[in-house]
Amino acid sequence: MNADAKKTVLRMIPYGIYVLTADDGKGNVAAATVNWVTQSAFGPPLVVVGVKADSGAYKIVQSTRKFVLNMLGKDQKGLAFTFFKPASVSEGKISGQPYHLAANGAPILTEAPGAIECSVTAIVEQGDHHVVVAEVTEAHLMKPPAGRPDNAILEMKDLGDTVFYGG
Ligand SMILES: Cc1cc2nc3c(=O)[nH]c(=O)nc-3n(C[C@H](O)[C@H](O)[C@H](O)COP(=O)(O)O)c2cc1C
Repeated sequence: MNADAKKTVLRMIPYGIYVLTADDGKGNVAAATVNWVTQSAFGPPLVVVGVKADSGAYKIVQSTRKFVLNMLGKDQKGLAFTFFKPASVSEGKISGQPYHLAANGAPILTEAPGAIECSVTAIVEQGDHHVVVAEVTEAHLMKPPAGRPDNAILEMKDLGDTVFYGG
């Protein structure tokens, strides 16, 4: 396989940008910017997320089987960059961002336009990122979009010409 072609062609896949949050209830809280996300079924509503197998977020998701996917708005590029780094909780905020806990125990970023609560149904342990399959158990719409919902959210291509995850 030609490595350059593989990289370029895989980078033709468009992605949204999300913050995956999880809390083990023992003082370990994760908030990680992720892009390898898609819905995979209507009934029950399922999503799949590629989660880095050696990350703090993966460890918590694996143990609690619960997480929240926070959508980011077009104007929230700064938040995407904030959560590329490991998150820290202080003064009731995650990396400076206000949050509250969802019914499933994971944090919801208050400033996200929307968020879904997810309950893990399977984990496919292949590669350096594992495929987490999860049922959507609750949806929160903090900021109803004016037009198409997918027009309102931050995408990989909004992060700049040199930012990619994939290839
Ligand atoms: C552009 C970009 C996209 C990313 N997408 C993912 C992703 O889809 N899945 C993932 O597990 N990590 C992804 N990451 C890495 C996480 O953001 C990073 O590992 C995490 O925030 C570190 O925190 P943690 O180790 O405490 O979980 C991405 C990083 C960048 C720069």
